[in-house]
Amino acid sequence: MDAVAEINAFEAAALAAISTASDDAALEQVRIEYLGARSGRLKDLQSLLGKVPKEEKPAVGKRFNEVKNRVTEALDAAKGKAGATVKPKAGPGIDYTLPGLRPILGKRHPLMQTIAEFKDIMGRFGFTACDGPEIEDEWHNFEALNIPEAHPARDPLDNFYLATAKKGSGAARLMRSQTSTVQIRVMEGRQPPIRVISVGRVYRPDEIDATHHCMFHQMEGLMVGEGVTMAQLKTTLRLFAQAYLGHDVSVRFRPSFFPFTEPSAEMDIGCVICEGAGCRVCSHTGWLEVLGCGMVHPNVFGHVGIDGERYQGFAFGLGVERLAMLRYGVDDLRLFFENDARFLKQFA
Ligand code: DAH
Repeated sequence: MDAVAEINAFEAAALAAISTASDDAALEQVRIEYLGARSGRLKDLQSLLGKVPKEEKPAVGKRFNEVKNRVTEALDAAKGKAGATVKPKAGPGIDYTLPGLRPILGKRHPLMQTIAEFKDIMGRFGFTACDGPEIEDEWHNFEALNIPEAHPARDPLDNFYLATAKKGSGAARLMRSQTSTVQIRVMEGRQPPIRVISVGRVYRPDEIDATHHCMFHQMEGLMVGEGVTMAQLKTTLRLFAQAYLGHDVSVRFRPSFFPFTEPSAEMDIGCVICEGAGCRVCSHTGWLEVLGCGMVHPNVFGHVGIDGERYQGFAFGLGVERLAMLRYGVDDLRLFFENDARFLKQFA
């Protein structure tokens, strides 16, 4: 071992001995052992210094002095305090029989619980979950969904276009305004039979209030195959609504319009608040609109290279928060995004 290593080892041993000494008498023993003028370990080290080569002397000597001072100071500081930390305090002891404190465990966010339940229900009907990007191009968000360039749904005021490229340039990007984009991505990638759902965030520059937000979640569903019918669409959606909201929930379908389906419909459920009698929530109609749906438009099949003569398909899109609000009786959409623990705890 060279001289510096010896000095370092001395320092470590001395400091360790000081920190474990339980009272002043023990500290005095430590002092004698390490710093004692006649036979202390420091003295041995000092004799070692004489053997260090001349050019190393200044550095080794400096280190020697540092360590000597440090150990002396540590000894002085420890005197009077020794043992203080290990002495038990006066007063009542610890009652080991008391039950411990339970750690607070986190729970999944109610929306994530809802999404998991949607996936579970639809999974039982044979639908597999898939994903698509939240930043989309105009082809997947509009064009392929039969929403042409001049369509008002493409208005920059109604969408979050990114400032990377000009709208209509082919390179423009936007935050997707609907999960119908995933229909296109799935159909572009494979041929029927297809039975998928996709749940995710969508973005719209809406004024934020109790029923609107600039970001919310949708679930999209798509089934394509030979002989797929509107009756299957209606049954699937009725069974879904009953599985999620309860078997006594009533549903009805109204004709509607979406560019990517023909025919198109909207599904209402009997108002869960007034049970059909008419109230403020359902604008006194007894019904609440929950989703849009329809049979996949031939133009959409054309855009993705699926033979619309041979295959038929149905699609639907619903607002996740909307359904969760109905199920749990939540009257303000914003609650889902504010992360107020008092609200979230109720879903634990
Ligand atoms: N994308 C529509 C929306 O955001 C919802 C929708 C309607 C989806 C009809 C569909 C559909 O797949 O067939 O309002």
